[in-house]
Amino acid sequence: MSVQVIDVELGARSYPIAIGPGLLDENQRFRRAIAGRHVLVVSNEVVAPLYLDRLCASLGAGGTDLIIAPLRLPDGEAHKTLDSAARIFAALAELRANRDATIVALGGGVIGDLAGFAAACWMRGIAFVQVPTTLLAMVDSSVGGKTAVDLAQGKNLVGAFHQPRAVIIDIDTLATLPQRELRAGFAEVIKYGALGDAAFFTWLEQHADALLARDPPALSQAIAHCCAQKAGIVARDETEQGERALLNFGHTFGHALETLTGYGALLHGEAIAIGMTLAARLSARLRRAPESDAAHLMRLLERFGLPTMLPEGIDADELIETMQLDKKNLSGRLRLILWRGIGMAEIVKDVDEAAIRALLTQR
Ligand SMILES: NC(=O)c1ccc[n+]([C@@H]2O[C@H](COP(=O)([O-])OP(=O)(O)OC[C@H]3O[C@@H](n4cnc5c(N)ncnc54)[C@H](O)[C@@H]3O)[C@@H](O)[C@H]2O)c1
Repeated sequence: MSVQVIDVELGARSYPIAIGPGLLDENQRFRRAIAGRHVLVVSNEVVAPLYLDRLCASLGAGGTDLIIAPLRLPDGEAHKTLDSAARIFAALAELRANRDATIVALGGGVIGDLAGFAAACWMRGIAFVQVPTTLLAMVDSSVGGKTAVDLAQGKNLVGAFHQPRAVIIDIDTLATLPQRELRAGFAEVIKYGALGDAAFFTWLEQHADALLARDPPALSQAIAHCCAQKAGIVARDETEQGERALLNFGHTFGHALETLTGYGALLHGEAIAIGMTLAARLSARLRRAPESDAAHLMRLLERFGLPTMLPEGIDADELIETMQLDKKNLSGRLRLILWRGIGMAEIVKDVDEAAIRALLTQR
């Protein structure tokens, strides 16, 4: 299977996304992205035992003069914090890293966001390389330069735009990903079809079995497709002044659900699957899109084993109130990503709360 390379075109800050098997061992691909001599490889206690030694050996292969240090952080969203960022800064200081140091993020979206944030801050910005190991991180969080940590008051509240030097996606790492995490990643994959690419939506319907069975060529093709779509959007709208917001299809509902159910009860992708369904059904209720497209989306999500119904006990008013806190709202007005149908997402300002309440209370 060949390696696919997609470029994110951002002038002097352009970078490649490489997708294929066995890339962890491709020393040269990493070397091209590494700035100076000091390299801090940030991972967590779940991913490190699986891949960290191999990656460090690969980075140091060929008698290089790199000074490589690993850092293992605790696992989970609960550790995407300023405290973990401080541990990265301490490790960089110990390494005597200066402006030409590089951080390599080995893990899912939590490690990528955290390590990217630390790279954005250390000496006002150093190089970093994303080595995503979850499907979600491969198709979404590792591309585009959004980095952040959470506060007790909310998710991703402190962050920066900081683009990586390269994204290196070794699809072999998906072999160890728990099935529930893989399924959750497919919610983001389906999102790309839903928001802007009806042909890809159909392709996913046709290849669902192969994808769920982790067939490498099918996975590789799906990941490359999503990365190409995201790379295009990011190149046109890096800091989310317009089109990039479409990538948040289902996310305002989804984030509110994550908050209300307590982080961890629903995986991010599961919350997004319910959120996309709600966005599609709300679009139908507002007569912006056919009801049949919402049903079609639900069928595809369910085929991938994803939830589409609100969990029991969610209160409509509480959900709406939580949605009001979303970063995507401007001046207190509810701004949602809805759609005109499969492949046609759109930004809708001033969405009528009564319509949302009616949808949420209709069981
Ligand atoms: N920056 C962005 O643009 C962006 C976009 C979407 C999501 N995110 C962020 O991404 C995070 C979610 O990312 P995630 O879903 O990857 O979660 P995660 O990083 O917590 O990974 C999920 C679980 O899988 C484990 N894991 C990772 N790779 C593995 C592998 N190959 N084998 C076995 N286990 C493995 C992790 O240790 C963790 O327990 C959230 O914090 C979210 O805010 C950021």
